[in-house]
Amino acid sequence: MNTHTTNDSSSVFVPDGELARQRQYEQKVRELIGGRYPEGPPLAYVHSYGCQQNVSDGEKLKGQLAQMGYGFCDSPEGARLVLYNTCAVRENAEDRVFGNVGALKKLKRQHPDLVIGLCGCMTQQEQIAQKIKDSYPYVDLVFGTHALHRLPELLYQTLSGDKRVFSVDNMDGTIAEGLPVQREGSFKANLPVMYGCNNFCTYCIVPYVRGRERSRTPEAVLAEAEDLVAKGYKEITLLGQNVNSYGKTLPDGVDFAELLKRINDIPGDFVIRFMTSHPKDCTRRLIDTIAGCEKVCHHIHLPVQSGSNRILKAMNRHYTREDYLELVSYAREKMPDVVLTSDIIVGFPGEQEEDFLQTLELIKAVRYHGLFTFLYSRRTGTKAAEMDDPVSDEEKGRWFRQMLAVQQDIGIELFRQMEGKTFRVLVEGESRSAPGRVTGRNYGNILVDFPGTGDLIGQFVSVKITGSKPGVLLGERADETCYNPE
Ligand code: SAH
Ligand code: SF4
Ligand code: F3S
Repeated sequence: MNTHTTNDSSSVFVPDGELARQRQYEQKVRELIGGRYPEGPPLAYVHSYGCQQNVSDGEKLKGQLAQMGYGFCDSPEGARLVLYNTCAVRENAEDRVFGNVGALKKLKRQHPDLVIGLCGCMTQQEQIAQKIKDSYPYVDLVFGTHALHRLPELLYQTLSGDKRVFSVDNMDGTIAEGLPVQREGSFKANLPVMYGCNNFCTYCIVPYVRGRERSRTPEAVLAEAEDLVAKGYKEITLLGQNVNSYGKTLPDGVDFAELLKRINDIPGDFVIRFMTSHPKDCTRRLIDTIAGCEKVCHHIHLPVQSGSNRILKAMNRHYTREDYLELVSYAREKMPDVVLTSDIIVGFPGEQEEDFLQTLELIKAVRYHGLFTFLYSRRTGTKAAEMDDPVSDEEKGRWFRQMLAVQQDIGIELFRQMEGKTFRVLVEGESRSAPGRVTGRNYGNILVDFPGTGDLIGQFVSVKITGSKPGVLLGERADETCYNPE
């Protein structure tokens, strides 16, 4: 596993020559599969598990495959290439992948030319790569997060040789600019601004599988944002494990607040989201910037993880509950309508009932619009994996359910308070609730369901909220308003 070192910004970028070499491999694969499948382009099934960053990586995997001449399908059946882009954040994420890979065994027997590939965070762990080597002999290609831009070369080796291909070297990590991208959406786009993480929260595997924190240049980020706006994208989500430390590895002093301002200045009708913000690096200047940029949604996903100072310290989070609550009041003072969401871990090793109750109190004090809640999952190689974990699963489960009940009541109340307000909503699709209705999201990323037709998809419309159900606001079309509440 990696030790904690800092990237030298000059060595982080994949050299142009190497990228050009990969483009040549794309051509080689194209010729090879052209000869093998004369009936037409073979199909690839690419599935990304986990966070938005992984989805964004998946778009680059697909972009490269499209250059190689692959088409795409929505299930492994009928595919000549299945590529699972995996997540390692919790055990159940890994179990799901192994389950789905197990199910491919039969398909491979029916179609021996099927190429099965595994990539992403899971494969970057030694013990997992070994398990695939030993127990899943029908998996042909395995590569880690650091080898994403080498897919053309690795796939060429897989297709042209008779050996299984593994590329899971551990390293600090690089940035490959200019890779082909096949985006999942036509009006919402992911835009990674940084990769990796240096925080080493003691429960978390991400720094080990994603390498050291490294930022793209502001020029590269802006050029991509301008291109997205020119192509008609209406929502851009800036991605990073901790966007608030954007720029720390760059020489020119552009921080995340400055980056937001520059993207906000791009002319056009679009909105900006970002995730994730680590509370330890969320400054007042950043909150002022969010409040002051009209295109930046007044929504902060600010994972607190725990409300107990003792546990926060054991988690290596570098803030106290008091720091956190102060940040929340400052955000509310500057943006009374700010929507706050968070991640919480229940059952961290050594967490006692009194710690859990402090988390519960914090949830009640902050009043989040939404929570992502997780039971602690032991990750091999992390510090917390070595800590005593005496509380039973039953007890943790009881706490977990108690927390969900508290949050559900808060959510219902906060949604009720939105009734009567008018929001600008980006329409996403037809509603599953009833025909003749569509759904979209408001500035807080909250689902809004209202009467409308499919031609509204991808457009901003104003909706007056008339009611709510758990997790969704109900409304009707209204006169034009601005995206964030006034
Ligand atoms: N970089 C982001 C989060 C990335 S992982 C941040 O720092 O906020 C997303 C969430 O998964 C985390 O916020 C945490 O709540 C949860 N998580 C991470 N590791 C976990 C583990 N070992 N067990 C349970 N939940 C975990
Ligand atoms: Fe994991 Fe912490 Fe980094 Fe988030 S900040 S990815 S929780 S180590
Ligand atoms: Fe999972 Fe990797 Fe994201 S572990 S949460 S896919 S960074």
